[in-house]
Amino acid sequence: MAKSASQFVCQSCGAVSSKWAGRCDNCGEWNTIVEEAAAAPVSGAKGASLPKGRVTRLVGLKGDTAAPARIETGIAELDRVAGGGFVPGSGVLVGGDPGIGKSTLLLQAMAALANKGRRVIYVSGEEAIAQVRLRAERLGIADTAVLLATETNVSDIVTTLNEGDAPAIAVIDSIQTLWSPVIEAAPGTVSQLKAGSEALIRFAKQKGTTILLVGHVTKEGQIAGPKVIEHMVDTVLYFEGDRGHQFRILRAVKNRFGPTDEIGVFEMSDGGLKEVANPSRLFMGSGEHPTPGSAVFAGIEGTRPLLIEVQALVSPSPFGNPRRTVVGWDANRLAMVLAVLEARAGVQVGNHDVYLNVAGGLKVRETAADLAVAAAILSSLTGTIVPHGTTLFGEIALSGAIRPVSLAEARVKEAHKLGLREAVTAARPELSGPKGFRIKALETISDLVAWAASQPKGLARIA
Ligand code: TYD
Ligand code: MG
Repeated sequence: MAKSASQFVCQSCGAVSSKWAGRCDNCGEWNTIVEEAAAAPVSGAKGASLPKGRVTRLVGLKGDTAAPARIETGIAELDRVAGGGFVPGSGVLVGGDPGIGKSTLLLQAMAALANKGRRVIYVSGEEAIAQVRLRAERLGIADTAVLLATETNVSDIVTTLNEGDAPAIAVIDSIQTLWSPVIEAAPGTVSQLKAGSEALIRFAKQKGTTILLVGHVTKEGQIAGPKVIEHMVDTVLYFEGDRGHQFRILRAVKNRFGPTDEIGVFEMSDGGLKEVANPSRLFMGSGEHPTPGSAVFAGIEGTRPLLIEVQALVSPSPFGNPRRTVVGWDANRLAMVLAVLEARAGVQVGNHDVYLNVAGGLKVRETAADLAVAAAILSSLTGTIVPHGTTLFGEIALSGAIRPVSLAEARVKEAHKLGLREAVTAARPELSGPKGFRIKALETISDLVAWAASQPKGLARIA
């Protein structure tokens, strides 16, 4: 047999090229290209001529397909993110940084399902049985009927899952440890990740077992990341959060069976992950000691409104090239807001450093946060306070106009529910708040500058 040809595969995005390069042309990552053996061509399928195929039956769009039954874990935040529970026979990827809490969450979820009488299997390729048991002990779930195995060989895993009744859910922790004997590459490479995941997803479709694949987000290029199997699975969930904070956010970025951008909020405690049923309280700050530079944004995460504190620090820059540092928001968007403030309202920030931070380690993706960001910047710059009890939302156009955003009513309702008394937003005649709740309508960024200037001065507190 001829030696199988090799190819060069980017471990970050999976792009294949014929030669090695220091930087991947496709995703721009450095040092991610690794040589792998090319998959051997199927015998007989040489060149361009395909073997003769069968005729596939063509059907219409209409038919009576019932909505899929769901497997609910009972952990409400997890079930909601999955789209109302997991769909039997689906493949789900749970990605996240190492140490963020993926194994903890899934072990807790499996224990909850086992308590409901479901057959669940947890396959760990990273931790020894004793380690997982210790964790279960710590989480107080050691008495549950979760079936445990430590295995990395894909054939052995599939054979094990095939034995006896098909489990309702099987967790594979993690895809980076999977090893398929038919692939000539080390575990953790793109080919191994793809082959292993594919075999497990095929099993899921055949047997109706939901397969949860854990994938570590990798910084270094030598180990392939979960991105390379995103297209194969039905649902992609990412577990995010700051290791320094105890909050963890589970976010659906792809879901064939439910909405995306839905988030679930958890808190990491001594006893594992706890659900946070009312996350607004967590992210909006207490407002006990209002300081300049802080504004509360009424955001929407998935289907849920969420109040989030946005913090800005604007200070004169000692250097010619001022710093712009953003955590939890889009840096380009910040540059745009600053440019509009300067060009349309004459606010000089060109010689100031600007730091922007979203409280609690949350990542905000909405452009509706523009107004709150601008307010936080103005507040820090001028030393005025955005009163506690006021929330802001609205998009800022390059012209300086403030644009209305979707779901304004839901945002106002959440603010009212949490005891806030005023919303500052784009002028929209049909928007009226609940009784006693004020809506302050702004037309342009200059209106915001005037509004900010009319607020009381506050002292920057130094703790
Ligand atoms: P883990 O679930 O192992 O992360 P991952 O599988 O994503 O790599 O989480 C490990 C972290 O969680 C570790 O730093 C310790 C912390 N932790 C707690 O704070 N409380 C707990 O009850 C448990 C089990 C873990
Ligand atoms: Mg783990």
